[in-house]
Formats: sequence, C-alpha cells, structure tokens
Amino acid sequence: MAISALEFQQLNRLFEQHTGISLGKNKADIVASRLASRLRASRSPSFSKYYRLLLTPEGQDELQIFIDKLTTHETYFFREQAQFEFLYHYYQHNRPRHSPIRAWSAACSSGEEAYSLAMILDDLFYNRPWHVIGTDISEMSVLMAKDARYAISTVGKIPKRYRIRYCMKGTGKNADNFTLIPTLKKQCSFQEDNLLNLTTVDFSFDVIFLRNVLIYFDKPKQQAILNNIIKRLNHGGLLFLGHSEAMRDKPACLQTLSPCIYKKVAL
Ligand SMILES: C[S@@+](CC[C@H](N)C(=O)[O-])C[C@H]1O[C@@H](n2cnc3c(N)ncnc32)[C@H](O)[C@@H]1O
Repeated sequence: MAISALEFQQLNRLFEQHTGISLGKNKADIVASRLASRLRASRSPSFSKYYRLLLTPEGQDELQIFIDKLTTHETYFFREQAQFEFLYHYYQHNRPRHSPIRAWSAACSSGEEAYSLAMILDDLFYNRPWHVIGTDISEMSVLMAKDARYAISTVGKIPKRYRIRYCMKGTGKNADNFTLIPTLKKQCSFQEDNLLNLTTVDFSFDVIFLRNVLIYFDKPKQQAILNNIIKRLNHGGLLFLGHSEAMRDKPACLQTLSPCIYKKVAL
C-alpha cells in the first residue's frame, strides 16, 4: 500500500517523539514496507488509521511493535572485535581495585554485545564480582536479550575458547539455537530505556559500549546522549563508540586511547 506524504509525516513525527530519531523523506517507501505487515495484523485499512490506532490507549502494545519495526537492530557477537581485544588487554594491565566491575551495553539490541562483554569480564575477573547491563528502547529487543537464544549459525563470531566455555547448544526444538551458560546469564540484566531520557540506568560504570546508535540522531541529540552517557562513567572508566561515530567535539574529560575508545579523566 502506498503511503501519502501526510501519513509519512505523521508516523515519522510519532517515531521521533518516542525515539528521538527522525527519518528522512527518502525513507517513506521503507517505512511503508516495514509497516505493511502491521497494517494487516492490526486490521488497519490505511496508514492514517494505523497512526490513529497508535495514539489510543488500546494501541500502546502496537506502538512498541511500531518502534521495533522502524529501528535498526543489526548486531552480532564480538562486533568490531578489536575493541573487545582492546578492553581485554587494557584490563590485564590496569586491574581495577574496586568491585563489582560494571559494564553497560547502551542500545544493546538483542543482547549479543552485552554477552560478548560478559565473556570478556568473566575471563578477566572470574573470581571477582562483575555485572553487565544492557538497555534498549525496543521492548522486543530487550525480551530477546533476556531470552538469550541465538541461531547456531551465528556462534562462529564468538572466539573458540569462549564458545567452548560459555555456549550451550540447544536440544529438541532448540537444536538450531544456542544459549549462554547460566552463571554468565545470571550476571547480566536487561531493561528498556531511552538514551535521550534515561530513567532506569544508574551511575558508576567502568565500561560503556555506545556503538552503532549515535549515527541515527542529529547533532544536538547526539550531544544530549553523550552527556547522559559520560556522566554515568566512572573516572578512569572506558567509553567505546562505533567505528563511524568518532567524537568531533570531544569534551576535556575524555582522553582518546585509540580511535573511538575514550577514558574519562579527572579535570
Ligand atoms: C544497530 S543497533 C546496535 C546494537 C549494538 N550496540 C551493536 O553495535 O551491535 C541500534 C539499537 O539502538 C536502539 N535504539 C534506537 N534509538 C534508541 C534510543 N533512543 N534509546 C535507546 N536505544 C535506542 C535500537 O532499538 C537498536 O536496537
């Protein structure tokens, strides 16, 4: 079904109100195709009827699905692997004295980044407490992260020594899946939150991964997100951004350790 300019504008505005992301006008066809199945499922005869449904109290579950459909969730285990190696070697030489070590996968999608971090932390600090939290605006992503069931075809991204130690192949109807061992999962938690208006995430993180999400926001919103993130990072803590997301106007409290990897320093 074709989407009119007005319908696109209405849906785009609603999406921006909830996520902070504005989709360019050239995305109208993509929006129409990503929402086509939702029009059918919600029995909405047009995009404007679908829009009106999203504004009603009964439409709030559908609103979550709408957000999920229009956000990009691509992720995989040990994405940009050099950053995980950097973290591993950094902590081998700079062991934090305090406990627990706390890491945050901000915009965690379905959890692969958070569990990759968990494997690194467990390897480094297996005899000390550590914790990873993952947050995402998408309810569906957070549910998938909590469920921690991944297609076996994706396990190859995990370094072999971690695959052997932390991954368990499913059986029966889960034979095509794998999951992570319970001791690893137990030290990871996931929750919904919006990077522009964080309500559940506390402070004092040693490591924050904020990768492949800033690119979706305009400059003022990127800055607002970075402010929210940096104030939650401990002095001496590390911030990792995606490879295409290097900071142009880096605040003085951040020292560059490597492209897209920063350490918070006391001023
Ligand atoms: C491309 S994924 C990145 C996943 C992971 N960080 C990685 O690099 O592999 C982007 C994620 O950002 C989430 N997202 C988009 N806008 C957000 C917002 N305002 N607050 C929190 N998460 C958001 C999306 O739901 C999506 O799961």
